[in-house]
Amino acid sequence: MHMCIQRIMQYLLLVAGFLALSFPVASFAANPDKVEFKKEGKVVKTMSVDDLRALAPERSLEVFEPHERRNWVYRVLPARAVFDKVFGKDWEKAREIIFTALDGFKPSVPVKKFLRHEGYFAFANGDGGLFTLTNKLQNNEVATLGPLYLVWDNIGSKELLETWISDMPYQIKTIDLKMKEPFPNMLPSAASSEQARRGFDHFRTHCVACHTINGDGGGKAPELNYPESVVEYIKPEYLKRWILAPQTIRYNTPMPALAEEISNREKVATEIIAYLKAMGDAKRAPPENPEDTSR
Ligand code: HEC
Repeated sequence: MHMCIQRIMQYLLLVAGFLALSFPVASFAANPDKVEFKKEGKVVKTMSVDDLRALAPERSLEVFEPHERRNWVYRVLPARAVFDKVFGKDWEKAREIIFTALDGFKPSVPVKKFLRHEGYFAFANGDGGLFTLTNKLQNNEVATLGPLYLVWDNIGSKELLETWISDMPYQIKTIDLKMKEPFPNMLPSAASSEQARRGFDHFRTHCVACHTINGDGGGKAPELNYPESVVEYIKPEYLKRWILAPQTIRYNTPMPALAEEISNREKVATEIIAYLKAMGDAKRAPPENPEDTSR
């Protein structure tokens, strides 16, 4: 009798294991198909990809895919047309648009960038295959891109290629229009040096999507300033090397190096460190109830 129950258990385990192995795509289905559009943190519309496809003309677009370091074709909707329909023309007067991804990546893209460059929401692979990519910058992790993935008509644009992956969130679940500075806790004080201010601009472009300073910023990677700043516990020469080539310090770290495409990378890294030092003298406890608790 005992033997028999054991056999049944073994059999069940085998079946469970087999099911788990044969349906690895189950995690792909976990991405919700709806995107929340917000103004100042309040939801104004929740739309599925099909709803959005009914609003704006779709097309195929070839982009340089920095996560895979090659060109790739996606099916896309023009971002400006989507914003016009969802928010009304007034979105152009906003200051920043914050995208929150399922994995915590949270870039803040200046509205000006959307007015100057062609941004698109990709919703499918151009070749009809799975809507995924292999993220070479993060240990070749296979990432699902849906429901929406923000891409840019970046081929031949030095400026767009220099921003690299910073403004390319995938798995977008919320799009939040901000009328004023969205990250007040990470601003350097008016008294800080020119170098630190330039470092802040670089930090906003290249780091904020993943990291927080005093609680403000993205949720994909650790806080860098509170309660102890990284400039206090990481030796200066290692900090710079970490920013330029993290994998030469920690094998297989998921942090990507500052993009090779950036001119003056060393100078950019030095300025970012000047900014981090300035913030080390301006610690503030992260807000207790951050507006976006959903990440
Ligand atoms: C795509 C997300 C991403 C971006 C962009 C990013 N980082 Fe990171 N960063 C990480 C992750 C993930 C870790 C944790 C890595 C680990 O533990 O190996 C990390 C760790 C760090 C650490 C070490 C923190 C500690 O306490 O050990 C520092 C310092 C750092 N990042 C600075 C930066 C700076 C400066 C930038 C911008 C130039 C930046 N990061 C951009 C994801 C990112």
